[in-house]
Amino acid sequence: SKGAAMVTAVAYRLAAQRKQIDAVLAPFLLSLDTLREVKNKMRAELEYGLKRETQASATVKMLPTYVCGTPDGTESGKFLALDLGGTNFRVLLVKIRSGRRRSVQMYNKIFAIPLEIMQGTGEELFDHIVQCIADFLEYMGIKGARLPLGFTFSFPCRQASIDKGTLVGWTKGFKATDCEGEDVVDMLREAIRRRNFDLDIVAVVNDTVGTMMTCGYEDPNCEIGLIAGTGSNVCYMEDMKNIEIVEGNEGKMCINTEWGGFGDNGCIDNIRTKYDKQVDEGSLNAGKQRYEKMTSGMYLGEIVRQILIDLTKQGLLFRGQISESLRKRGIFETKFLSQIESDRLALLQVRRILQQLGLDSTCEDSIIVKEVCGAVSRRAAQLCGAGLAAIVEKKRENRGVEHLQITVGVDGTLYKLHPHFSRVLQETVRELAPQCDVTFMLSEDGSGKGAALITAVAKRLHNIGRK
Ligand code: GLC
Repeated sequence: SKGAAMVTAVAYRLAAQRKQIDAVLAPFLLSLDTLREVKNKMRAELEYGLKRETQASATVKMLPTYVCGTPDGTESGKFLALDLGGTNFRVLLVKIRSGRRRSVQMYNKIFAIPLEIMQGTGEELFDHIVQCIADFLEYMGIKGARLPLGFTFSFPCRQASIDKGTLVGWTKGFKATDCEGEDVVDMLREAIRRRNFDLDIVAVVNDTVGTMMTCGYEDPNCEIGLIAGTGSNVCYMEDMKNIEIVEGNEGKMCINTEWGGFGDNGCIDNIRTKYDKQVDEGSLNAGKQRYEKMTSGMYLGEIVRQILIDLTKQGLLFRGQISESLRKRGIFETKFLSQIESDRLALLQVRRILQQLGLDSTCEDSIIVKEVCGAVSRRAAQLCGAGLAAIVEKKRENRGVEHLQITVGVDGTLYKLHPHFSRVLQETVRELAPQCDVTFMLSEDGSGKGAALITAVAKRLHNIGRK
């Protein structure tokens, strides 16, 4: 009959559509063997970054941080901290108490950094930062106090001491001119001088290091810091004898791996999809931070958007119509991906979210969008897990033990807000590093608190700063 023929036709169409969608998403499904290969490649790149002959050209830069120990609870005092490079720019006042009543109290204020400042001149950027500090001091009523300051600056810096850091290159959404190759502490000091006040800058700290230190304050077994947020990065305590570009063989030093640059030599091009390449080409730093662009919040939504555009072109979505909104870069922020992928959300609500983004979807559309988001974020978590497996395995071999127990301090919006990312990440690490027993510890405000703790340790050890 006619009815039966129509049902058959619809079934065929659906099956054909399914095939096309599966074909688009297939390159996002990584086998365990592929993930193992990623782990092994990461491990090799970590070694290149540590060795004198190869470090200059290494894509995983393995930057020494001059942070040589975790806090021991004897730190105390009042500190200022700046946190630049995450989702928000913040200024904090941190009060640390030592002894039996040890505690950390924090007051902070979030400031916006307008796009034209992130991508303007370095002088404008640092003037803006100092303006925010001045507002904060005024607001807190501590304008005249010359407090020691820790600067969490979440970009790759080459350091020669804890209070010096030359910016290697901007990452994520920043691109201010005249900063690369300059010491960011000097730039901050000069901006402070331009406003005729005085602050005692003691430490410049990567957010991964701040996170590790914050968790290390509670758990001495924490020797790794992970950020899975706007960007992606890891630091860990490495044996001095393995860090060839730093004098000395005793003890340990924290290494900021800057693993976001993994793959910039093409070593993971076999798993990069055409969508990854499109996202890279449309970014502020094309060709750089290839691993970060597959694993972090700033880019996942962009990958999703590129896939949706392709599916729409193939007539599989949005009735084949590419809307104005879908053409807009950056519409899918991490928080939307997290909402769309939440299992508690009914499809109707997914449709509503898409509608808010200006995407008119049918019920079928919203199923497909959710599926795309799932494939992209799952791959991100697995890749991040493969990287982390390389780090914990390295730590295990350093210690020369059969089994390693270790804690990883973690922060970042992707890890904290996404409904599946953290679980998939942990499962992957367990699978790829079975001899390591890894505890994940969420850091409470790692960047700010950690910067203050590092500042406190630095003041205690070297009496740096006050000159
Ligand atoms: C980028 C930065 C790195 C930072 C990470 C997380 O990868 O280069 O320094 O730790 O983002 O914020």
